[in-house]
Amino acid sequence: MQPEREKLGFTTRAIHVGQPADPATGATIVPLYLTSTYTQTGLGQHRGYEYGRADNPTRRALEAALAALENGRHAVTFGSGMAAIDAVMRMLQPGDHVVAGEDLYGGAYRLFEQVYHQQGVLVDYVNLSDPDGVLSTAIRPQSRLLWLETPTNPLLKVADIKALAAAAHRHDMWVAVDNTFATPYLQNPLDFGADVIVHSMTKYLGGHSDVLGGVVITNDDAIAERLKFLQNTVGSILGAFEAWLILRGIKTLGIRMERHQKNAIAIRKFLEQHAAVERVYYPGSAGPYQASIVARQMRGPGAMLSFELRPNPEQDPIKRVEEMFSRLRLFALAESLGGVESLVGHPATMSHASLPPQVRHDRGISDHLIRLSVGIEEADDLVRDLDEALR
Ligand SMILES: Cc1ncc(COP(=O)(O)O)c(C=O)c1O
Repeated sequence: MQPEREKLGFTTRAIHVGQPADPATGATIVPLYLTSTYTQTGLGQHRGYEYGRADNPTRRALEAALAALENGRHAVTFGSGMAAIDAVMRMLQPGDHVVAGEDLYGGAYRLFEQVYHQQGVLVDYVNLSDPDGVLSTAIRPQSRLLWLETPTNPLLKVADIKALAAAAHRHDMWVAVDNTFATPYLQNPLDFGADVIVHSMTKYLGGHSDVLGGVVITNDDAIAERLKFLQNTVGSILGAFEAWLILRGIKTLGIRMERHQKNAIAIRKFLEQHAAVERVYYPGSAGPYQASIVARQMRGPGAMLSFELRPNPEQDPIKRVEEMFSRLRLFALAESLGGVESLVGHPATMSHASLPPQVRHDRGISDHLIRLSVGIEEADDLVRDLDEALR
């Protein structure tokens, strides 16, 4: 018998929901079901599984656990975060209009502009720090979807999900939140009125930089049905091994996030008083309004942090960044985020290189901007690594 998930705390849900002992063998850990098909006892007689694209027991266990972590009823997994975003976008029709936060992951921007634009789905990008501004400037009669990332990548701005969802719903739009940076441990957007949540599970949910995956979570039965249909029909599914790795990853998500965040807070403190640092970006750090949103909808600011090097007119900014990176011994220069190891990145030439230079400039992504994914190593070691690199 599975316990009632509503009565369980976060990590208990992560370890138990959807994961009873295996009915066939009693295996305590959900087995890795490597099978593309399932034997039927007669025509149309099977145990709920027919073909591996449509369903898989390891994947189903992960989906149940993920839904529980986000207080959702349905989770539908995909082969990457981008495939999950694509599944949400596929629910739109040519002529539909999307309003998106202007500070968003470069890959999402590329998908919107270089794939959906050609199919007649237009996206406008707005500053989501002002919910009323969104309404007056961007919403059109054709607007169907409000897309938001909060906290944003790479400037760590937060948007008021409750206010924005209420505004969007008044215009019959539905609301999607990319919750990758916060994770379900720190923020549950469905509780604030979002209709769907997207995660790149490649990041904190997997947590060990060894797997790619994506998920869409919702409480809406009709949306879930369409997503299940797309998962099977388009076929951009999460493999069984990936599902198994992520199922293992989420069991420690809560304790990893506590440590990630503790380290990030120590690094923020160090960077904010460093002479070579112009500005630190961290959820809630941009003033009292942003701080009040963090207090209302997040259980903590998380572990992503960006900072700008103080400009030196005599030195090319990219050269300067490269020099600093070459002195780092623990922070690895790499795309991605959310693994146990600390990573450093340069948004202008890495995660956000697909944005045109003018768009990057307008959104405040300068060549001096550096992004950190703070890992779970010892905080003192990480601070020392940055200190030596910034000298
Ligand atoms: C916020 C955010 N959403 C979505 C994605 C895309 O996820 P994936 O790389 O798993 O396709 C990323 C990847 O960096 C991301 O940072």
